[in-house]
Amino acid sequence: MYLTREEKRILDGELGEGTQKALELLVAIGDAYDAEKMIPISRAHAASSGQEGDLYFVELLASGGARCRVPTSTNPVYDIKYFDSLFEVPKDEGEVARRVMEAYKRIGAILSWSCIPYMAENIPLYGETVAFSESSATPYVNSVIGAKTNREAAQSALAAGIIGKTPKYGLHIKENRRGTHFVKVETLLKDEFDYTLLGYYVGKRIGYGIPVFSGITRQPSTEEFINFCAMSNVSGAISMFYIPGLTVEASTVEEAFQGDTPKDKISVTDRDLKQACEELQTASGKIDFVMLGCPHYTLKQVEEVARLLNGKKIHKDVAFWLCTSATTRLLAERNGYVDIIEKSGGHVVVDTCIDEPCWIAYKNQVGMTDSPKCAYYRRFKEAIVGRRQDCVEAAVKGKWR
Ligand code: F3S
Repeated sequence: MYLTREEKRILDGELGEGTQKALELLVAIGDAYDAEKMIPISRAHAASSGQEGDLYFVELLASGGARCRVPTSTNPVYDIKYFDSLFEVPKDEGEVARRVMEAYKRIGAILSWSCIPYMAENIPLYGETVAFSESSATPYVNSVIGAKTNREAAQSALAAGIIGKTPKYGLHIKENRRGTHFVKVETLLKDEFDYTLLGYYVGKRIGYGIPVFSGITRQPSTEEFINFCAMSNVSGAISMFYIPGLTVEASTVEEAFQGDTPKDKISVTDRDLKQACEELQTASGKIDFVMLGCPHYTLKQVEEVARLLNGKKIHKDVAFWLCTSATTRLLAERNGYVDIIEKSGGHVVVDTCIDEPCWIAYKNQVGMTDSPKCAYYRRFKEAIVGRRQDCVEAAVKGKWR
């Protein structure tokens, strides 16, 4: 890979060991993908987590004096103070989370602790070159916003944020952004949950690729896009997709395929989505808790929960959790939504991911969620997956059906 004089100096350690390690990683990735050179990025999102691999890398860079050169936001870990006041989180795991959060601070990252930073704390513009990790973030940034990112890991995104560059390969090259699979949607997608199931189903069927959709005639909402992105990039590896005319980069199916023929064609029916939903259920009946906000809820979603819960009490045997960003919670507080949810007996937590040791108390319990991703990464025993309104109804009744 061609390296500039400055890049060579960094590799020689002139800017310190942390920056050197970050560039070493990027060069190794670039070599693996035959990248011709490094290109500048304007922002990054590191899918940080309170886990040991993340701790190792961010501490390695931070202790070597590295600092982010471009705005680099962070994924949720967990609200240590809040959970310590309620549960006994194993000390060693809590310590990993604390050190991860501390190291990201030292390295100069934006301490957003949110998995949808593209909504508020770190928003790319159309055409920007960025390095975003996190399941919903990569396809959202490529397809909905029209910026360019590869499907980064937490480590490669952090390294890119420190260097302010990424190797030029993959989705940074126009011809690699062409569609690979044609997907005909033969069912009416009514709401966010249908998009969640569509993402889950399409990701599973395609695996790795760039689907081009037809049959979607209504402009999806922000929340529908977020959920489609999160689920398709968990059940599969969908870094980008097209709904010609409704996403930004191609106005026709032909344009999305850049003149190529699709590798495969699939259709999605009502029955497929129903079956996908059934597959996700591992329990029914009594529930111990409800977990919402995977990905983190937007203000609109928090408002909907507040409206559904208003004047009702959550069942005494059920815990109710809603995860969101600190930014959203602040607005939700101002609007009175947090108050309504808390008066009903729910928790509105910030900085927190559903895949963290703070949920230890639910290890052997049954949880209900509106997110197949939450069910997939669950730290609890059994999962019921349903619409948001079903989750709220079950929380009040103490059981689902
Ligand atoms: Fe966000 Fe964690 Fe879910 S990062 S999308 S809450 S698994």
